[in-house]
Amino acid sequence: MINRKEAKGLAHGKLILTGEHIVVYNKPAIAIPFPLQIRAGISQKSGEITVSSKLYNGRLHDLPGEMLGLQVCVNKSLELCHQPNEGIHIEITSDIPEGRGLGSSAASAMAVVRGIFEYFHKFLSDEQLFFLVELAETYAHGKPSGIDMMAVASEEPILYQKPEGVVKNLVSPNPFHIVVADTGQIGDTKKAVEHVNALKVEKPKVFLNVIDEIEEIVKKAQKAILEGNIGLLGALFVANHEKLKELNVSNSMLDHLVEVAIGSGALGAKLTGGGMGGCIIALAMDRKDAKSIAKTLKEQGAKTVWDFSTNSSKVYKLGH
Ligand code: MEV
Repeated sequence: MINRKEAKGLAHGKLILTGEHIVVYNKPAIAIPFPLQIRAGISQKSGEITVSSKLYNGRLHDLPGEMLGLQVCVNKSLELCHQPNEGIHIEITSDIPEGRGLGSSAASAMAVVRGIFEYFHKFLSDEQLFFLVELAETYAHGKPSGIDMMAVASEEPILYQKPEGVVKNLVSPNPFHIVVADTGQIGDTKKAVEHVNALKVEKPKVFLNVIDEIEEIVKKAQKAILEGNIGLLGALFVANHEKLKELNVSNSMLDHLVEVAIGSGALGAKLTGGGMGGCIIALAMDRKDAKSIAKTLKEQGAKTVWDFSTNSSKVYKLGH
């Protein structure tokens, strides 16, 4: 029997609580880990590198356009491990749906890089990890702010701002009970970022006002998290969603789910991530409320709904 070598890399998803889009323009944003996982299994095989995942099965060399970042990232990882471009199979399995603003592209690149370094027993520094994931993310997002990869690598909520990066971890005295509802629509982050940039070019005054207002929301949210003030944080979600509407990145399904969440007892709700599809997040008073908000969101059209508390890695799911 052949003694096959195998290794595994893991990463989790992320949720942006506040500050998406403005973070691209060197303003602050807050993100938290979302404990849905992506696993990359690396195993020995002869010949060309192959990949299996929900989106693609075949040679690394033939990866489709939207996954090209992963190809570049794998090739560079092998180069840094001083290994040839052959002899492994990469199997990606994921609990995080793609294109929903939940960090699946950054998390899959991170899991693959971790898996490759583990497989070759090479030390992976944070600097190398972020460099390699950024390669993949640049293909996926155009000019990403970097918040996604920092959030999928962090076990704590983070305050992030370019050019510094993670400004600090935001540890709250109270857990937050969060419901995430998926519209079922793919939200193209690259397109959404371009959309906001178009507003900046066409209506610079409006753009600058909105991003300053969102920055104020982020600052207040930071304080609310550190004080464990969930009522205030909920109200800030609502205010942030209104401003994201002004940036033209919401749509009728996202607005509908935000209204349903608030109508069923959420302290606040907003779209999360790039928008134009993807997911909303809602803040609940406690676990019981989170369950009932999740159920209503599912009944009112969300494709999948998850709920979790920030003091636990357990995620509950309705739908598929
Ligand atoms: C995407 O999760 C967040 C955006 O702000 C884009 C970025 O920061 O790269 C929309």
